[in-house]
Amino acid sequence: GKTILITGVASGIGARTAELALAFGADVIGVDRNVPAAPLQSFIKADISSPESIAELVSRLPQRIDALANVAGVSGTLGDAKTIAINFYGLRALSEAVAPHIREGGAVVNVASVAGYGWRANLERAKGLVGVQGFPDPDQIVKEFAIAEGEGYPISKEALLLWTQRAAHQALFRDRGIRVNAVSPGPVTTPILNEFRKVFGDARVDSDITRVGRAGSAPDIAPAILFLASDGARWINGANLPVDGGLEASINADVL
Ligand code: NAI
Repeated sequence: GKTILITGVASGIGARTAELALAFGADVIGVDRNVPAAPLQSFIKADISSPESIAELVSRLPQRIDALANVAGVSGTLGDAKTIAINFYGLRALSEAVAPHIREGGAVVNVASVAGYGWRANLERAKGLVGVQGFPDPDQIVKEFAIAEGEGYPISKEALLLWTQRAAHQALFRDRGIRVNAVSPGPVTTPILNEFRKVFGDARVDSDITRVGRAGSAPDIAPAILFLASDGARWINGANLPVDGGLEASINADVL
């Protein structure tokens, strides 16, 4: 059988991804800073933005896993610095620490967001953020890159989308045939959506939902994550898969 490490399993998209992977017969190792309400056969409590917590998590992993799904993330309500520390630097540090446990030909799947599509328009800033190695002081990052209040979430996802493409060609992953891809959900009805309403305002969230007729649900997103984690996606690398009911296309159609 296959073994998949999934972060963010205590809620929303991560919980559904774990449930679906189990239904497909995989072994799931779940990670979250909160304990899931429905117990998992294997769960490790960890904060992915803490180097100590990552080290402890990695020390408890089996020798070999097949894939890592980076689903855990925060909305921005914790502030811009903390958001970037979790959604980008923590996620990247975890992936790099877990990489030696991922079998040859395995996969990493990063859950980004439509909110990160500014990576190309803001390429220099995204390159700057990705260029800082390890666990930088997030308050320093906010200062250095002049991140305005409320921009932490989109910027964290911009950095993640750029890094996904870089990581696909980073020796740590590429030399062992480990593919690195992203899934970018549009608005999905999970607890984080109400937080987005606070950070970005109801108008923005509602207009995104109206464009595509409804909000997504966690079961709309999980199959895409598991597909990219599977051998069926063996020739897909460094890609971003929007899973947004057509939101990105709708926005682009107005621009292009
Ligand atoms: P959620 O809030 O239901 O679940 C997120 C999970 O991540 C929670 O269980 C939380 O405890 C965990 N988590 C947060 N910080 C953590 C940390 N430092 N260490 C360990 N675990 C941590 O949200 P949802 O919707 O399931 O979000 C999953 C991912 O999807 C996130 O990366 C989010 O940015 C992304 N996303 C969600 C969208 C939505 O509308 N729901 C839209 C676009 C992207």
